[in-house]
Amino acid sequence: MRCCQFLLTKILKAQHPDYETWLTGPHGTAGVSCADCHMPYQKQNGKKVSSHWWTSPLKDPELHACRTCHSDKTPEHLRAQEESVRSHEAVRLANEYTGEKNANYDALMAEARKMVRKGQFFWDMVSAENSIGFHNPARTLDALMSSMDYSQRAVALCLEATNGGITAGVTGDIIKLVPPIKEHSRKLQQDPEHLKSHKWLTYLPLLPKADPVWDGNKRIK
Ligand code: HEC
Ligand code: HEC
Repeated sequence: MRCCQFLLTKILKAQHPDYETWLTGPHGTAGVSCADCHMPYQKQNGKKVSSHWWTSPLKDPELHACRTCHSDKTPEHLRAQEESVRSHEAVRLANEYTGEKNANYDALMAEARKMVRKGQFFWDMVSAENSIGFHNPARTLDALMSSMDYSQRAVALCLEATNGGITAGVTGDIIKLVPPIKEHSRKLQQDPEHLKSHKWLTYLPLLPKADPVWDGNKRIK
């Protein structure tokens, strides 16, 4: 029946529209390739290979493919963390400062402690949040910027309170200034010699000897 040719509307089949949606989306625009998400690197017999299991990257409960770029170890996160450590160290040094103090020392230090708390809290908002920023990328970055700002204000207040007397102790690479962070553990806190090994550790109470309960994230007891 020839008439049907005129009654029917020809339809179109979209052929792999993934390409267009990706290209015009935030990932395509930023140069993230299909393989970045669908063929993430993984270890196989100790070798680094790209996954050829082309499926939804969301089937991996750890979201490894996404975490290579989206993680809580972004440069902003690490800087906010360092600035917060610096602000803690500034308050510690200012607390113990014996040189000539600013006439407003007490008020300045009260304000500095407030700023330390805010800086640490905004950092922890991101650290403790479980979506590594996906739930709200703009808000996450904003929280980290606030964190850095508060921590830096805390340091400035401590410098003012001590008339600049603690400058050397808070200037430079904070990781080098406060080394025991990475060399401390619950186990080591049971060792009196360890607690004498650095000024920071002398503030900690000695813990009673006990067998470890955790090895990494595995419970062993
Ligand atoms: C930013 C990461 C990302 C990029 C880049 C990306 N995809 Fe995807 N893709 C996904 C996610 C996430 C899903 C699964 C969504 C779900 O499970 O609901 C998916 C699903 C798919 C699927 C269905 C897989 C299945 O078995 O369910 C195909 C096919 C696909 N993408 C093709 C592509 C192609 C082709 C490109 C490049 C043009 C591309 N993707 C780029 C993240 C990405
Ligand atoms: C190779 C790096 C890379 C990988 C892998 C990657 N992303 Fe992204 N993602 C980006 C970049 C770059 C942006 C854009 C950031 C911007 O514009 O500020 C982005 C933006 C986003 C955004 C915000 C989108 C918006 O509209 O602002 C979300 C949500 C997101 N990615 C989720 C994912 C998920 C889920 C995966 C894993 C399936 C993934 N990404 C894998 C680099 C990556």
